Amino acid sequence: MMLLSLGDGMVEDAEHSARGTSTLGPGSSPESRRSFLGALLSVGGLFVGALLSVPLIRFALFPLLRRTTELKESPVGALTEFSSLTEPVMRTIQIELVDGWRKVISEKAVYVTKDSQSRLRVLTSVCPHLGCTVPWNKEKGQFVCPCHGATFAADGTRVSGPSLRGMDTLETSVQDGQLQVRFQYFRQLVSDKEVIG
Ligand code: FES
Repeated sequence: MMLLSLGDGMVEDAEHSARGTSTLGPGSSPESRRSFLGALLSVGGLFVGALLSVPLIRFALFPLLRRTTELKESPVGALTEFSSLTEPVMRTIQIELVDGWRKVISEKAVYVTKDSQSRLRVLTSVCPHLGCTVPWNKEKGQFVCPCHGATFAADGTRVSGPSLRGMDTLETSVQDGQLQVRFQYFRQLVSDKEVIG
């Protein structure tokens, strides 16, 4: 009897195979398996595509995601150059401004001078009144702005004229004996120093 049942089952399977169906259920027919594999490949393709697109999206959005502008420190000179400073000396520094993918290099004049406690300080040459470049006047022993006559002491403090504050100091650091400065722009026509870029 068992042999007969087994034989019947085999016959039944053979019939199902001949009709393209299976005893495992309608979902496992060749068409279903093909659609399932197709769906699996589509999902896999989408997943791999998404993975591969992440670096491209990051690349494209990089200029938007990073800080709008980034100013790097600029070398001013060896510390030993300024050890026996008796009056402000002008130095031209190169400024590297990074804005997204754009890198701009420009030059700016700064003054290396000393504060009241003989510590080195670096001043921007941009007048805090309306932005003219302020030269050091050796004869007068003062910075004198040629535009509207503002005057500043050797350490940059305001002496007279329309400027509401003294000349602006810049952040400095020392690396391997080299004086470094971080150039910045400050708001004009105000009494307090305020960074604008
Ligand atoms: S810009 Fe310097 S005093 Fe006006």
